[in-house]
Amino acid sequence: MILSNLEQLRVNDVRWRDGKAFSLTYSASDEAQQLSETAYRMFSHENALNVGAFPSLKRMQQDVLDFVLQLLQAPASGAGFMTSGGTESLILVVYGALQRAIAQRGPERLNEQGFNVVLPSSAHAALEKGCTYFNIESRRVPVGADWRADEQAMIAACDENTILLVCSAPQYPQGVVDPMEFIGKEAQRRDIPFHVDACMGGMLLPFIAPRDMPWNFSVSGVTSMSVDLHKYGYSAKGAGVIVYANKELRQHQTFLTTNWLGGMYGSSGILGTKSGGPIASAWALVQYFGVDGYRTLALTARKTTLELAHQISLIPELVLRTQPDTTLLCIGAQNPNLLSVFLVARELREFGWFVDEQTPPDSLHLTVNVVHENKVDEFINDLKKAVERALLRSSDSAFEAPLPYGSV
Ligand SMILES: Cc1ncc(COP(=O)(O)O)c(C=O)c1O
Repeated sequence: MILSNLEQLRVNDVRWRDGKAFSLTYSASDEAQQLSETAYRMFSHENALNVGAFPSLKRMQQDVLDFVLQLLQAPASGAGFMTSGGTESLILVVYGALQRAIAQRGPERLNEQGFNVVLPSSAHAALEKGCTYFNIESRRVPVGADWRADEQAMIAACDENTILLVCSAPQYPQGVVDPMEFIGKEAQRRDIPFHVDACMGGMLLPFIAPRDMPWNFSVSGVTSMSVDLHKYGYSAKGAGVIVYANKELRQHQTFLTTNWLGGMYGSSGILGTKSGGPIASAWALVQYFGVDGYRTLALTARKTTLELAHQISLIPELVLRTQPDTTLLCIGAQNPNLLSVFLVARELREFGWFVDEQTPPDSLHLTVNVVHENKVDEFINDLKKAVERALLRSSDSAFEAPLPYGSV
């Protein structure tokens, strides 16, 4: 009864397992999904807060980390932690940079002038969250006409209070990989930590990045990277990784206290108690796919993205904001005065599709993964119909505000 009620509750949810969602969810195959869910169930009530009690979870986290370290071409000194995902990783990067700055420059500096993080306007909102939580200035630098970070402008925006530089591989909104070699060089020269957010790309770019698109620890000056297993690792939600170039950099993000009546308390991340489920799910899928499996998944998702991009470019009312570097697509209206892309998104919902809406500029956003491999024709047909219907409703301004990316 309770379980059938749960089934009933989800009747209006988007059918992501059928490839109807270009957002929020990822699905590799029924078999992988079942493996992930079984592994999750086995460890769902185990607590990763204290791996002394659960050496299994310690081992699994180390195995997942080792796998990701290899994909990122991390140095032998590379060290990291599993996190609950991109947002926690990025908040921790800001926190770690703040702690390092306080350790190096003294706490009085924080009160005198305040610190800042220099990042492109495209870097993920979770960095804004981190800066807000720790009262640090988020110094956003406009991206270039190609949506990529403006390396010169970012370095020009740094001053003696800059504690962190950030680039993305790729950035979420338009899906392009930022150039980063000049920033890396300058970050190293000025001794500023430099984070590359590869939450989206970390499990894709090892297999699809062209040679002339450096994005990982092979870039001099990169001090940390974030990668999500619950995106293109296809694991259950709650699995990410943060990797530092060495343990000295990593130590600033860990937290230890004895200032209460409960003894020594330590944790590597923001959460205290955390489920072993996501860790077991990520571990199981890393074993299941391995490097070769993830290569196949990445190439399939990339091929599907390029097919979609090609088909979308043939629809005269729409325009691709840029050619995709990875598996993210950003779509605008050829003439925004005639067509609201947000109305197109609402019409797509009528056909069961869920796509993200974002601004500025007003755009649709698609996160493509292997579940969409055989969905291209069906989606494109419905997209054309959605455009026609939206054109008829173009005076209907009630629906023109985009749906938010998250919820409160
Ligand atoms: C580039 C990038 N960084 C960070 C995040 C945040 O990840 P999460 O929502 O899993 O916390 C996302 C999410 O899409 C992302 O695309």
